[in-house]
Amino acid sequence: MEKKTLYSAVQPSGNLTIGNYTGAIRNWVALQDEYECFYAIANMHAITVRQEPSELRRRTVELLALYIACGVNPEKCTLYVQSQVPQHAELTWVLNSMTYVGEMERMTQFKDKSARHAENVNMGLMDYPVLMAADILLYQTDVVPVGVDQRQHLEIARDVAIRFNNRYGETFRVPEAYILKAGAKIASLQDPEKKMSKSDENPNASVFLSDDKDAVIRKFKRAVTDSGNEIRADESKPGVTNLLNVYAAFTGCSVEQAERAFEGKGYGEFKLAVGETVADALAPIQAEQKRLLADKAYLGGVLAAGAERAYKAARKTLSKVYRKIGFYQGE
Ligand code: TRP
Repeated sequence: MEKKTLYSAVQPSGNLTIGNYTGAIRNWVALQDEYECFYAIANMHAITVRQEPSELRRRTVELLALYIACGVNPEKCTLYVQSQVPQHAELTWVLNSMTYVGEMERMTQFKDKSARHAENVNMGLMDYPVLMAADILLYQTDVVPVGVDQRQHLEIARDVAIRFNNRYGETFRVPEAYILKAGAKIASLQDPEKKMSKSDENPNASVFLSDDKDAVIRKFKRAVTDSGNEIRADESKPGVTNLLNVYAAFTGCSVEQAERAFEGKGYGEFKLAVGETVADALAPIQAEQKRLLADKAYLGGVLAAGAERAYKAARKTLSKVYRKIGFYQGE
């Protein structure tokens, strides 16, 4: 049986956190055997907020190296940079003419980002969901693994696909959300009611995949815990619960097993153990990323091959779209 197609992308902006690792990257690895996977580095999305050009370029390659270091296999999946496949921009333009301004104005992320970047509410920011729809639809995607923050965008991709198919006949596969297994959500170490975020202003709130052992341990030592002294997952103990979740996510044990492992121990010892576990898990990934980054020829080759594979698949869909809408493609 033919494999289903899975599509995902990340923006090369900001440093990834251990939450991105347990919630996204690890899933990319787990899904690569079962699905025909397209994984993009979404640099076209990234420029909807201002980026330093040299940093954007550097982060693009670093992200690629990180994904490979985490176990994404470029032989199995199509790993590529969005801007290297021109059909993304081309299909976006077509889809723009069948997406309504009102729909885009209602997008939660657009409203949030407009408030956060009030001096730079540009057209790209508003068009972000259409570019994302183009990403997904170009590859005749069956499933998209998305967290809650991207659900609304996936809905738009579905709506636009259905709208196009109704108007011009069957053209796009209508993508479904791939619901990720719950359990790996990681909260801020400083405010466990909030998601751990790569853009948190408090430097102790997030543990980055690039943090060295000292930084990781220091952040976990400073993690807020709760009153009392019991190490138990409970709604009234969000700080301790979060640390238990982190421990479980990085060791592969259950939260109950984690509770048992720390029964009778003090908070100090517990936080240190969680920090050491995370630091030890990150060390080999960081070493491998560093090794890969020293081999620019290899990374360049991966991206060239990925862009070519993506280009071929995307060209097929775009040509079909152009035919349906009456764009001249030669006689
Ligand atoms: N907007 C997504 C994010 O920031 C990244 C993204 C771009 C994406 N295109 C996509 C995710 C297509 C899934 C499918 O997380």
